[in-house]
Amino acid sequence: MESYRTAKAFALTSAFWFAVATTFGLLAAGYLIAPDFLANIGWVHFGRTRPIHVNLVLFGFVTPGLLAGAFYMVPKLMRTPLYSETLGLINVVLWNLTVASGIAGLSAGYSQAREYAEWIWPVDMGIVVNFVLIFINVVMTIRRRQEPLLFVSVWYVCAAVVMTACTYALGNVIWNPDTGALAGISDAIILWFYGHNIFGLLLTPLSLAVAYYVIPKVTRTPLYSHTLSLLGFWGLLVVYTHIGTHHLLQVPVPTWLKVIAIVDSIGMVIPVMVFLINIWYTAKGKLGEIHADIGGKFVFTGTIMYFFVSIQGSMMALPQVQRVTHFNNWVVGHAHVGVLGFAGMTALGGLYYILPRLVGRPIYSRFLADLQYWLILIGVSGFTIVLTIVGLIQGNAWLNGETVYRILPEVHIYYVLRVAIGVLIASSAYIGLYNVVRTLFFNPGVREK
Ligand code: HEM
Ligand code: HEM
Repeated sequence: MESYRTAKAFALTSAFWFAVATTFGLLAAGYLIAPDFLANIGWVHFGRTRPIHVNLVLFGFVTPGLLAGAFYMVPKLMRTPLYSETLGLINVVLWNLTVASGIAGLSAGYSQAREYAEWIWPVDMGIVVNFVLIFINVVMTIRRRQEPLLFVSVWYVCAAVVMTACTYALGNVIWNPDTGALAGISDAIILWFYGHNIFGLLLTPLSLAVAYYVIPKVTRTPLYSHTLSLLGFWGLLVVYTHIGTHHLLQVPVPTWLKVIAIVDSIGMVIPVMVFLINIWYTAKGKLGEIHADIGGKFVFTGTIMYFFVSIQGSMMALPQVQRVTHFNNWVVGHAHVGVLGFAGMTALGGLYYILPRLVGRPIYSRFLADLQYWLILIGVSGFTIVLTIVGLIQGNAWLNGETVYRILPEVHIYYVLRVAIGVLIASSAYIGLYNVVRTLFFNPGVREK
C-alpha cells in the first residue's frame, strides 16, 4: 500500500485547526453578547478574533481537509503514486507554519484590514509558495499517470490550485508589500474579485472534486454523465470568475461591472444545477449505500447545502433583495451555510472516506463520526435560522432609518442562541480531532461502532 503521508498530514492539519477555529468563533460570538468580558486583553478582542476565526476556517480547516482528499484522489485516479511524498510533507509543514504565523500576526495586531486578505505580506508569500508546491506535485503526478482518462475530479483539483495561486497573489496585491492594497475603489474591486474566488475557485472546485470522487465510489455506480461534468466545470470557470462585484452593489463601482456580476450570479444556477443533477442522478436509488458510509453521508449532505447556498446566493445578488440582506447577519448566515454546510461538510466527508483507506483499518469510532455529523447538521441549520432572523431585523431597521443601537436589545437573545449553537459545532470539532488522531495513531482496528 502506498504511504499517503501527505494526505494523512493534511487530514491531521484540518482536524486540528477546525478545533482551534471554532474556539475562536466562540470567542468572537461571546464578545458580541458580553463586550466587556475580557475587554482589556487585546488579542481576544473581536477585531482580532473575527479575522483569526475566518482565516482559520478557510485556510486551517476546510482547504487542508479538501487537500487531504485531493492528495489521496489524484494518485488513485491516475493509478500512480504521488510524485513526491517528501515534497508533500514539506508542503504540509510550510502550510502549518504559514497558518500559525498568520494567526500569531493577527493576534498581535498585524493585519492588512481587508476581508479574507488580512494576512500581511510574508504570510501571503507563504500561501502562494504553498499553492505552487501543490501544483508541482499534482502536475508531475499527472504527467506520470498510468490512466489515460482525466476524471473530472482531477480537472477540478488542478483548476483550484492554479487559479488560487494567481487570484491570491492578485487579491493580496503582493507587489505592494507595505499595504497589500491598491488605492481607492479599484482596491475594493480587486479585493472582492479575489474574495469571491476563495469560495468559487478554491473551496467550490475542491469540494466538487471530492464529491465527484466519493459519491460514485460509495454508491458503486459510474458517474451519471461525463459530458455534464465537463459542462459544469467550464460553466463554473467562465461564470464564477465574474461575480465578485455582487459584494459591492451598494458601492460606487462602475455600473457595467455590477450588471455583469448580477447577470452571472443568476447564471451560476447553470453550473450548480448541472453538477447537482449529475451527482444526484448518480446517487439515485442508492441512498441506503450513502447512509451506510459516513464519508458519503457527509458529502451528500454537503451537496444539499450547495443547492441551498447557491440558490440563496443568486437571490442575494439581486439589488432589490440585497437592500434588505446586505450589511447584516443574513450574509453571515449564508457564509456559514456555504463554508461550513457545503465545503466543510464535504471536506469532512472526504476525510472520513479516505481515513480508513489511508490506515488500512476502519475509523476509530463510527459512533463519534455520526455524532459529529449530527452536531454539525443541527449547528449549521440553527445558525442559518438564527442569523437569518437577526439579518431580517437588522435589514428592515436599516431601511426604516432606525439607529443601530436601538435594535441591539432586540437581537441580543439571538446572539446568545448563536453561542449556544456554536458550542455544539465546537464540540463536534473536538470530537472529530479525537477521532482522527485515534484513527491515525492509536487505532486497535476493531471498533467499528
Ligand atoms: C451561485 C452561487 C453563489 C452566489 C450567487 C453567491 C452570492 C453571494 C452574494 C451576493 C454575497 C454578498 C452578499 C452581501 O454582501 O450582501 C455572498 C456572500 C458570501 N458568500 Fe456566497 N454565493 C454563492 C455561493 C457561495 C458558496 C458556495 C460559498 C462557500 C463555499 C459562499 C460563501 C459566501 C461568503 C463566505 C460570503 C460572505 C462574504 C463577506 O464576508 O461579506 N457563497 N454570496
Ligand atoms: C463554534 C462555532 C462557530 C461560531 C460560534 C462562529 C461565529 C462566528 C462569528 C461571531 C463570526 C463573525 C460575524 C460577524 O462579523 O458579525 C463568524 C464569521 C464567519 N464564520 Fe463562523 N462561527 C463558528 C464556526 C464556523 C465554521 C465551522 C465555519 C466554516 C467552516 C465558519 C465560517 C465563518 C465565515 C466564513 C465567517 C465570515 C462571515 C462573513 O463575513 O459574512 N464559522 N463566525
